[in-house]
Amino acid sequence: MLAIIGAMDEEIELLLADLRGREDLTFPGVTLHRGALDGVPVLLTRGGIGKVNAAMTTTYLLTQGATRVIFTGVAGGVHPELRVGDIVVSTDLVQHDVDVTPLGYEVGTVPGELPAWPADPHLRAVALEAARDVEGVRVLDGRVASGDQFIASREGVQRLWTRFGAACAEMEGAAVAQVCAKAGVPFVVIRSVSDTADHDAKVDYREFMPLVARHAKQVVRGMLARLAAPAV
Ligand code: ADE
Repeated sequence: MLAIIGAMDEEIELLLADLRGREDLTFPGVTLHRGALDGVPVLLTRGGIGKVNAAMTTTYLLTQGATRVIFTGVAGGVHPELRVGDIVVSTDLVQHDVDVTPLGYEVGTVPGELPAWPADPHLRAVALEAARDVEGVRVLDGRVASGDQFIASREGVQRLWTRFGAACAEMEGAAVAQVCAKAGVPFVVIRSVSDTADHDAKVDYREFMPLVARHAKQVVRGMLARLAAPAV
């Protein structure tokens, strides 16, 4: 079963409206919606903001039979060429706010875990194809940096770019990645740029949310069509 997670209501409401045969499964803190999108059986959910919510939601999804996970949402652009509306498909994900350096670990490394979690090559390829169908936007294949921080400064952007080579900043993806990696479940994170993580970030973020939510919906539906198509 394919699972689709968005962090916020705006990110899943367009997809939820199209879910057929909807059944709601309620758990402490999370509701999962089971049904069919374009004929494909899915679990769809709003995962909430931040890494803890993302990890919890992913765990529930896996216990309910998710075998592939797509995370869709917005991000702050870090790569200098990214503009609002552009799309990033994750190559791999890091947790930029983890700091166990006093014990000799690199910044971003959770002891005992990978320094970065690679996304599934097939889901990445399908996401890239679907994203390239969105008109008028740049599509980047790049690293996604997650942390429990909304980045809204030039210094913050610079740090993520120089230290991690991140394409964009968000608050959930690497937590989804960490849980999926532990379970051996393929995943990909797709992020539409809602701001460029600088001083204007909080204004841009609100203004462009409806546009990027539409892009996200288009990419997910493009992925569903490709994933449902019989292999040739
Ligand atoms: N999500 C959207 N914009 C973001 C930003 N600037 N920082 C972190 N998460 C975000």
